[in-house]
Amino acid sequence: MADKTLNVICICGSLRKGSYNRMVMNALPGLAPAGMSIKEAPPFSEFPLYNADTETGSGFPAAVQKLADAIRAADGVMFVTPEYNFSIPGGLKNAVDWVSRVPNQPFASKPVAIQSATGGPLGGGRMQYDLRRAMIFLDALTLNKPEIFIGNCSQRIDAKTGQITDQQTVGFIRQQLAAFARFIEQRSGQH
Ligand SMILES: Cc1cc2nc3c(=O)[nH]c(=O)nc-3n(C[C@H](O)[C@H](O)[C@H](O)COP(=O)(O)O)c2cc1C
Repeated sequence: MADKTLNVICICGSLRKGSYNRMVMNALPGLAPAGMSIKEAPPFSEFPLYNADTETGSGFPAAVQKLADAIRAADGVMFVTPEYNFSIPGGLKNAVDWVSRVPNQPFASKPVAIQSATGGPLGGGRMQYDLRRAMIFLDALTLNKPEIFIGNCSQRIDAKTGQITDQQTVGFIRQQLAAFARFIEQRSGQH
């Protein structure tokens, strides 16, 4: 591990207060390897629906610019998000679409990792491959393995305390974060 702290920002794809994905995101700092800091990204909840007329008229909303700047400044980006209708939640996709339009778009060459928690048994696998596809177009560097699919999430996360109770899930998340730290370090200096 290099002596520099790896600064990772985390984008939660669910906006609801009781979100299981938000609970997972909140657990990440405690599961990260030494030398990795994980903080929540600036919110996308106030982004308008993407409209090219807004972009060319009044320009990028301040909240879009703020998220884009945070992504550009981070060493890595973690998505923790549910799957909606077998794909990326609309709000999150809208956020990616807005950010992708900012000049010098910030996902280019950016290490990215994905986690998902869903009520269904597959844990968001279909969404993850759609998000990976969007990241390919944006030239992000998305971590391949380990993958984190938290299926049947209400049985693995205690909604009252917000704790991940399933220790196998905790172990997988630790492994992914350690792999993400190595992935970021290996790619630093390549762009
Ligand atoms: C619009 C919508 C679509 C959903 N589609 C899926 C789906 O395709 N696959 C799945 O496993 N769960 C699906 N769910 C259930 C979510 O996985 C579940 O509500 C989950 O708790 C949402 O994440 P959150 O707790 O972080 O908000 C859907 C939920 C909503 C609201």
